[in-house]
Amino acid sequence: MEALIDQLSETRFNKIEHVSETGSTNSDLVARASTLPDGFVLISDYQTVGRGRMGRNWEAPPSVNLLFSVLLHPKWPDERHQLVTPALALATVEMLQQLGMKASIKWPNDVLVQQEESKKIAGILAEYVQQENPVLVVGMGLNIGWPKLEDSGPPESTSLSACGIDEDRWKLLGEILKNFEKRLVQITVEKEVSGFIEDYCSKSSTIGHEVKVDKADGDIIGRAVGIEKDGSLIIENENGTTSFSAGDVTHLRKL
Ligand code: BTN
Repeated sequence: MEALIDQLSETRFNKIEHVSETGSTNSDLVARASTLPDGFVLISDYQTVGRGRMGRNWEAPPSVNLLFSVLLHPKWPDERHQLVTPALALATVEMLQQLGMKASIKWPNDVLVQQEESKKIAGILAEYVQQENPVLVVGMGLNIGWPKLEDSGPPESTSLSACGIDEDRWKLLGEILKNFEKRLVQITVEKEVSGFIEDYCSKSSTIGHEVKVDKADGDIIGRAVGIEKDGSLIIENENGTTSFSAGDVTHLRKL
C-alpha cells in the first residue's frame, strides 16, 4: 500500500483508505461526501452489496478483484460531469493496453477485452452528490482474479487471470489512477476537451458500429458516430441524428 501511495504522490489520489469489507465503496463515499477531500480513494477487498449501473448488483468474491471508489471535487463546468466515466474507462484501457491486451470501451462505461469474442473486464458507476459543494463519486470494479475460465461468473465477463495475466493489483490501480489524473486535467481545460473526445473515440468499440439503444419509450437502432462534449452518444439513422446521455447499448454485430 505504501508503494501505491508513493506511485500516486504527484496526483490527487494520494489519500487512500483500504478496508477488508464494506457494503459498497460508492455508498460509503456518498455518505461521507461532505467531509472528504478531492481525490480520496476507498478500496475494499470485498463488498457485501456492490452496486452496478441501472440498479444491478456487482459481484466479486473476497480479495481477488479490484473494487474501489474515488471522490472528486469537480473543477470543470457542470456539463462535463458525464466525461468523468469515459475518463476512467480510457485510463483503464490504456493500462490494459500497456499489458499487451486488446482493450476497448463500450459506451458509456464498460471496459472490454478481446478474447474469442469481446468480454467485459471492468465496469464503472458514477454518482453525483448534490450538496453545498457538489461532488462526484466514481467507482470501478476491475476483474483481476475472478471469473477464471472455469468459474461461472456474470455472463460475457472475464478477468486478467482468464486472459493469462498475473499482475499485482496495487500496481495496476496505481497505473489506472495516474492515467485518470491526466485525463481529468484534460477534461478540466476547455481547449483540451476535443483532444480527449478524440482519444476516447479511438478506443471505443461502440463508435462506428450499428447499435441498439434501449429506451423506456422504445429502442433506437442506428450507427454510433461519436460522443458530444458532455459525453452523450451520437446515433445516426434514417430519422437523423440523436444524442443519448444515458442508456444501455447493444452492439448489433458481435465484436
Ligand atoms: C457496472 O458496470 O454496472 C458498474 C459496476 C461498478 C462496480 C464498482 S465496484 C466498486 C464501486 N462500489 C460499488 O458498489 N460499485 C462500484
